[in-house]
Amino acid sequence: MNALIEKAKQIHQLSKEEIISLLNDNSINNELFNAANEIRHKFVGDEIHLRALIEFSNICQRNCFYCGVRAENKNIDRYRLTPDEIIKLADNALKSGYKTIVLQSGEDNYFTAEILADIIKEIKKNDTAITLSIGERTYDEYKILKDSGADRFLLRIETTDKELYKKLHPNMDFENRVRCLKDLKSLGYETGTGCLVGLPGQTVESLADDILFFKELDADMIGLGPLIPHEDTPLKDAKPDGFWLSLKVMAITRLLLPDINIPATTAMETIQPEGRILALESGANVVMPNVTDEFHRSRYEIYPGKKSVDYTKLEEKFKQIGRTVSKNKGFRSQSRPLSLNPSPIGRGTKMARHLRKNLTPQERKLWSILRNKNFYGYKFKRQCPIWKYIVDFVCIEQRLIIEVDGSGHNLNQNKSYDKQRTEYFETRGFTVLRFRNNEIENNIEEVADKILLSLREREGRGGK
Ligand code: 5AD
Repeated sequence: MNALIEKAKQIHQLSKEEIISLLNDNSINNELFNAANEIRHKFVGDEIHLRALIEFSNICQRNCFYCGVRAENKNIDRYRLTPDEIIKLADNALKSGYKTIVLQSGEDNYFTAEILADIIKEIKKNDTAITLSIGERTYDEYKILKDSGADRFLLRIETTDKELYKKLHPNMDFENRVRCLKDLKSLGYETGTGCLVGLPGQTVESLADDILFFKELDADMIGLGPLIPHEDTPLKDAKPDGFWLSLKVMAITRLLLPDINIPATTAMETIQPEGRILALESGANVVMPNVTDEFHRSRYEIYPGKKSVDYTKLEEKFKQIGRTVSKNKGFRSQSRPLSLNPSPIGRGTKMARHLRKNLTPQERKLWSILRNKNFYGYKFKRQCPIWKYIVDFVCIEQRLIIEVDGSGHNLNQNKSYDKQRTEYFETRGFTVLRFRNNEIENNIEEVADKILLSLREREGRGGK
């Protein structure tokens, strides 16, 4: 067992150096892919979420060095679907069972937020989720789109190497892209980002930064894939050899963000036979079949050879690898509830202070993964007085209490006392998770998973 993979499986955290070491070591690839597959199974299950992709305009004001629809490419027939055409494609997709429509385009200013909002409202008359992938806009535009019913937004950061970003994106600003992602998050979109793998000049160090960026943003979806050189772009001579590295970046992302949605991207399938299935068995849980009509799809050439999904064959393949097609919309979570008031809780009692100074080894071990908002950004307090009790750990915001039994700290340890105590908390909307010392000593992995699942459950994961 590779110790770093084990660690990532247990606490879903790795340092930059640790990520780099995994990316550089190709002897552990299978173990890494299997670990990501296991964690995917554990956190998001065996269902595959299908998202119907509509490429509604290939007109783009940008000039990204890798992309075939860049403004300066004159060898491409430009098109723009009408609102009616877009709505019709969406209706057809919904009739055939899709639960999410993804509207993707170049950065085409013809489609103002108002025009898009009308399209979104029309599609939302059906029971569907809508994902947008239309590039950088202002906060106000994102707000109009959100208010009209859009649920999710995809905007890859592409690379977090600022120098490289600048070279590949003329007249664009890295900071503005980050601003967009933060705006999207703050507006309550399920927010997806991601990167390209195999860019000329890209280092494993910067890929490690990309992964840590995903985690810091707490992205809800991560889409990534290998660069596929397009002959009408400045990167036409780049090497198309990023498949395995992108699979590794994806697998590590799954380990560190265990409950997010990760698509098996078309670029992966295009560059490697069975690439999509390999991705689905290495952490991915989403597929985005293209439902744009053939005439326009062939003109949306971001990169050459874009593979389409033969849906009937694909469903058969899903079955073969023990997976099913989801019947729900596949949200990561509902938006987080506002912070609850920590009303009767004071931290100043003498006993609580004494306990805080004297953690047992097991409590110390658990605290090391919960402290400092390390655990997915959730804020935990330790040895915290709640009314006449002192709880070992509590996340006030999510009303989750964690107790370590057998620590010797819980005075009067007996069953009826515990029961009374638990009842007190539960009638006040808290959930109490109890762990025994030996669980923490021997299986911190499972303890961390249970805590995360409980936190996500409390947020209403999967709901809507
Ligand atoms: N190869 C692979 N992926 C590409 N993208 C753009 N051009 C290419 C290419 N040549 C990706 C970008 C973009 C997404 C829609 O497609 O990451 O965000």
